[in-house]
Order: sequence, then C-alpha cells, then structure tokens
Amino acid sequence: MASPLALVLFFLLFLGSASAHHLSENFYSSSCPSLFATVKPVLKSALSKEKRLGASLLRLFFHDCFVNGCDGSILLSDTANFTGEQHAVPNNGSARGFEVIDKIKDAVEKACPGVVSCADILAISARDSVVILGGPNWNVKLGRRDARTASKSKANKDIPPPTSSLSQLISKFAAKGLSTKDMVALSGGHTIGQARCTSFRAHIYNDTNIDASFAKKRRSNCPRQSGTGDVNLAPEDLQTPTTFDNNYYRNLVKSKGLLHSDQELFNGGSTDSLVRAYSRSPGTFSADFVAGMIKMGDISPLTGSKGEIRKKCSKIN
Ligand code: HEM
Ligand SMILES: *[C@@H]1O[C@H](CO)[C@@H](O)[C@H](O)[C@H]1NC(C)=O
Ligand SMILES: *[C@@H]1O[C@H](CO)[C@@H](O)[C@H](O)[C@H]1NC(C)=O
Ligand SMILES: *[C@@H]1O[C@H](CO)[C@@H](O)[C@H](O)[C@H]1NC(C)=O
Repeated sequence: MASPLALVLFFLLFLGSASAHHLSENFYSSSCPSLFATVKPVLKSALSKEKRLGASLLRLFFHDCFVNGCDGSILLSDTANFTGEQHAVPNNGSARGFEVIDKIKDAVEKACPGVVSCADILAISARDSVVILGGPNWNVKLGRRDARTASKSKANKDIPPPTSSLSQLISKFAAKGLSTKDMVALSGGHTIGQARCTSFRAHIYNDTNIDASFAKKRRSNCPRQSGTGDVNLAPEDLQTPTTFDNNYYRNLVKSKGLLHSDQELFNGGSTDSLVRAYSRSPGTFSADFVAGMIKMGDISPLTGSKGEIRKKCSKIN
C-alpha cells in the first residue's frame, strides 16, 4: 500500500491545506509588507487628537468578534434601514470610531489595493490602540475575510449587557469559547474609555456593593430620572481613563467599578481572587489580557474563499 514517502507527502499536504484556513501572523507579509507601517501613523494621528478613540476601537473589535466571529460585520453602515449591528442595542449611540477605520482602510487600499480585509484592519487597530495608550504589545494573527451580512438580532443576543450578573457574563463568554479567566482579563479593557449614564445609572443608584463617595461623585453628572442626562459620560477607570494599566482592577477591589457588570467580577464570587491578583500584578494582567485578545481574535473567522475583501469597510462590494 502507501509508501512511507507518500504518507509523509499526504500528511504535509493535509497540514498545508488545513493551515490555509487558520489565521497567521505573517498572512500579508508578501502581499502587503507595508501593512503595519501604514496603519499605525493614521491611528496615531487620530489618537493624538482624541485618545478615547483608542478605547472605542478596542470595543469595536470585541463587538465585532462576538457577533458571528471577527468578520468586520459591525463596520457595515446600517443607517439605510437600521437592520445591521450598528443599531443593535449594545451599539446604538455608543459604538464609535468608524471614521478612523475608514481612513486607515483608505490608506491601506492605496498601499495594497484589494488585499487586506476590514476585519484584519480592526484587529490591528485594536492592538495598536492598546499599545499607543501604554498597554502590552502582541503579534496579531491575520487572514480574516469580511462578511457580506450583519446581524442585529445576534448582536442583541450575544453581546452581554451592563446589567449582567457574574454567571451571565461567564456564560456569554463561554458561548464564544472563552474561559472565565479570559472574561475577567478582557474586561480589563475597561481601564480605558467612557460610558454613558444610561449604562451605569442603575448601579450608582440601586446597587449596594458600591463605594458611597464614588456613587455620590458619579450621581452628580448622572441624574436618577431616566431620560435626563442619559448620554452624560463618565470614565470607566476613574483614575487613568486614557492609560492602559491595571487600575480597573484596583478600582474593583475598592468597590469603585462603574458598571454593574464590572463590580460583579469582585462581589464575593469565584472571580474575586483573579481580580485581586490583577490588581496587584500589572504583568499578570497584561499576559492574560494578551492571551484573551488572541483567543477572541480567533472566534470563527471567515477564511479561504468565504466572504470578501471589502473595498470600503462601511459597505459590501
Ligand atoms: C464583560 C462584559 C462587558 C460588558 C457588559 C461591557 C459593557 C460595556 C458598556 C455598557 C460600555 C459603555 C457603553 C456606553 O454607555 O457608551 C462599555 C464600554 C467599553 N468597553 Fe465594554 N463591556 C464588556 C467587555 C468588554 C471587553 C471584553 C472589552 C475589550 C477587550 C471592552 C472594551 C470597552 C471599552 C474600551 C469601552 C469604552 C469605549 C469608548 O469609550 O468608546 N468591554 N462596555
Ligand atoms: C439594509 O441596507 C443595506 C445597505 O444598503 C443592504 O445591504 C441590506 O441588504 C439592507 N437590509 C435589509 C434587510 O433590507
Ligand atoms: C437608537 O437610539 C436612539 C437615540 O437614543 C433612539 O431614538 C433610536 O430609537 C434607537 N434606534 C434603534 C434602532 O434602536
Ligand atoms: C431602582 O429600583 C427600583 C425598584 O426596583 C426601580 O423602580 C427603579 O427604577 C430603579 N432605579 C434605577 C435608577 O434603576
């Protein structure tokens, strides 16, 4: 029957075809060698005007990956009929940074026309944002293709709301193949950025597991009455909202989490010890955050000939 050589060849071919459908760090190294050097300056210039945009792009990546995988679906404009992801509840009025992605895509199209997906541009932008704001660096895996559809209903179902309990957070992440540890580490993304009053009102008025002076401070710019001051902003990390550090966890151990879901991570439950560890060790947090980002970036990508390489990130070809 099969000679050893044939078996080896068969095995190599099998590995080759299997790996063609996996993401890899060097996916564009011959097709677009200037990719990273093209993305970073555009992003840097945007963040030099508004640091919060780095937070907004990190969040876009999370919301992209949690809905049908990291396929650029959240980038599709749905203002024509409001049936896409941008007007789903977790994104409506809060997802932002789309113009930066469009700008980066234009620069990348000039350098390497028709080659790099919007899904990959978002993954690189999320990483670069973290780095620019002082967080850890890592190699981003690439090779995702862009979806031709978006799903409002899946965005509403799969992205956890800020009212979530610990067990709900754990199960929404588990549904995407992410562990409880990944969930706690990735929540550290809230060390940067802002939230609207509507997202934390119930926590600062109704929850008891909150530091009293912190609640008072946040109430001063977030009226109790729903419909008033709904879009007033507060920093997710009261200490350093434009620096990627471990202060998010240091706040949690002092009952100064902004969202109900944040404080659920340190509320006498199974994740307390991890929060305490991250609050003490920036290095441990960074390592687990990076591992979580790489895992999240692997959620059901479109590869091979699936999907497309969009010309404009806001619309299908
Ligand atoms: C664990 C479950 C999570 C919940 C319930 C949650 C919920 C929220 C909410 C309600 C906001 C504020 C939206 C607004 O009112 O404008 C927000 C903002 C944000 N989230 Fe999350 N989030 C979660 C996990 C994550 C993850 C995994 C990341 C990234 C790794 C992330 C990154 C961010 C960032 C950076 C912002 C600020 C965005 C900005 O300033 O534009 N979140 N999140
Ligand atoms: C909504 O509009 C987009 C963009 O014009 C289009 O691609 C999509 O098919 C429309 N969806 C529905 C359900 O009409
Ligand atoms: C989005 O939010 C706006 C303003 O808060 C609201 O008027 C609108 O009905 C929402 N749209 C959808 C599709 O939920
Ligand atoms: C606080 O809880 C009460 C009783 O459940 C509810 O009626 C009220 O709307 C809540 N307030 C906020 C700001 O969530």
